[in-house]
Amino acid sequence: MKKILTGAALILTVATGFALAEDAPFSKEIKARQGLMNINALNIGILAGMAKGETPYDAAQAKAAADALVAVYNLDLPMLWPAGSDNTANPATNALPAAWAEGSDIGAKMEAWEAAALAMQAAAGTDLASLQGAMEGLGGACGSCHKAFRASN
Ligand code: HEC
Repeated sequence: MKKILTGAALILTVATGFALAEDAPFSKEIKARQGLMNINALNIGILAGMAKGETPYDAAQAKAAADALVAVYNLDLPMLWPAGSDNTANPATNALPAAWAEGSDIGAKMEAWEAAALAMQAAAGTDLASLQGAMEGLGGACGSCHKAFRASN
């Protein structure tokens, strides 16, 4: 009997915890977009390691990382960035309200990101010099959007 009660209490705790986490505004969207951003970080890390000579250049691996950056770009849909899902609504996000403000140039920064990811996709598997040439544009596209629209934590 005690075992059953403990089990029931556990289920209740887990269920309540789940409900609370889901109640915070835009939790699912925030988690999903942060997940995509972390995939970006993983892949840009692979490319940067090769660009800096910290890891040996591997054309297939470089191409796979660049392909993943483009795939993430294609998944990063507007539905992950609903209006109001900024860090004043939910402390779990670092997205600044400025991203949604009148006159925000986040659209232009998205386009710059797409162009940089496509340039890296074309370059990464060619040779190390090409990868290195595309690195600055890619890092710049990530960084310029973070500077404008991501709270530093
Ligand atoms: C168009 C704007 C934009 C571009 C381009 C962009 N990011 Fe982000 N990134 C953001 C915003 C906004 C956040 C904060 C998201 C949140 O906390 O909800 C973020 C968060 C992150 C995070 C933290 C995720 C977490 O777990 O909190 C990482 C890592 C990251 N970005 C990496 C990258 C990399 C690498 C690139 C380039 C390949 C990139 N980002 C391109 C806007 C951008």
